[in-house]
Amino acid sequence: MSIFKSHIVQMEAYNPPLEGRGPHDHLLLDFNERTLPVCPSVKEAMIDFIQADRLQCYPSYGNIAAKIARYCNVEADQLMITNGSDQGIELIIRSACREGEEAIIPRPSFAMYQQVARVENLNIIEPAYSKDNGFPRQAVLDVISDKTRLIVISNPNNPSGTIVAREDILEIAAAAPNAAILVDECYFEYTQQTVADAVEQYPNLLITRTFSKTWGLPSVRLGYVISNSENIRALLNVRGPYDVNQLAVVAIDAALSNPGYTEQYVKEVMEVSKPMFEDFLNSKGIDYWPSVANFIWTFPNNPDEIEKHLRSHHILVRPKADDSGKTGLRINLGNKAQTESLIQTWSRII
Ligand SMILES: Cc1ncc(COP(=O)(O)O)c(C=O)c1O
Repeated sequence: MSIFKSHIVQMEAYNPPLEGRGPHDHLLLDFNERTLPVCPSVKEAMIDFIQADRLQCYPSYGNIAAKIARYCNVEADQLMITNGSDQGIELIIRSACREGEEAIIPRPSFAMYQQVARVENLNIIEPAYSKDNGFPRQAVLDVISDKTRLIVISNPNNPSGTIVAREDILEIAAAAPNAAILVDECYFEYTQQTVADAVEQYPNLLITRTFSKTWGLPSVRLGYVISNSENIRALLNVRGPYDVNQLAVVAIDAALSNPGYTEQYVKEVMEVSKPMFEDFLNSKGIDYWPSVANFIWTFPNNPDEIEKHLRSHHILVRPKADDSGKTGLRINLGNKAQTESLIQTWSRII
């Protein structure tokens, strides 16, 4: 018999297919990452940190939370840095929910919500997204009960790329005042849509964000939570004092000093690459979910063949099945040249 809780032993690990990928060997369109290297000043800051013999010291975070808060237009005490937004998700769910309580996690969505909710042994209710209507607003409202302790709104949602309107989020927050409303704004820079300005008015709103995507720094792991100052104080009681590594703070400090580098990339992805790829899909009659993000969930007739063909040309995309079991390919977009390469390679198999 295991020494661990039986429901944890029975779980499966979240094992995304990360091994063997490399930016010099592949065009990486499978993990919604930035497809270009980070700003040179970020690399220099990290090298300087190492050369200054700071590796042997425990982390100290200085004013990084205040600097990120300025970038987000919130107060410094409304923000907490975390080890990737995954840690923010985990801290919120662990801190808000007790075993046996209910979590509403619309599906399909990013795997970590389910993973953490299962660890906490919550009863998970999963209203379904649909291609035509996106987020299941009414179904979520319908299942809110006294036992609801968590509602996840992934905005935009991964893998569907769909967005939830601000008024719908606030309606749900008002309808479930005793539940934590976890709004995951991981892809915020691509959409510029946020409810960060509403955290004082809606004390159950908790927003997670990250430097993993647009900013191109998933390897160093820095995310953050935005909420009212009382919630942030409580969450800081749970986060460890060194959970965020110092190199991440050094890198993000340098990245924030040069936001133009990131803004330029976002502009190219959203204004050039994405419309170009949508035109391609439309012209070939390939089905896809309308997306507001930097990735598109496509449903070609022969997804396995296309995935293999792209892979044989060193382009990686991510198979993701929909609710009916039909395989789609979630594809994130890079710059113009990379998108042209994707389209040319795909065209050869049609
Ligand atoms: C919706 C969503 N939230 C959170 C994350 C995790 O981000 P982080 O690297 O900050 O933990 C991802 C990563 O794919 C994601 O798609």
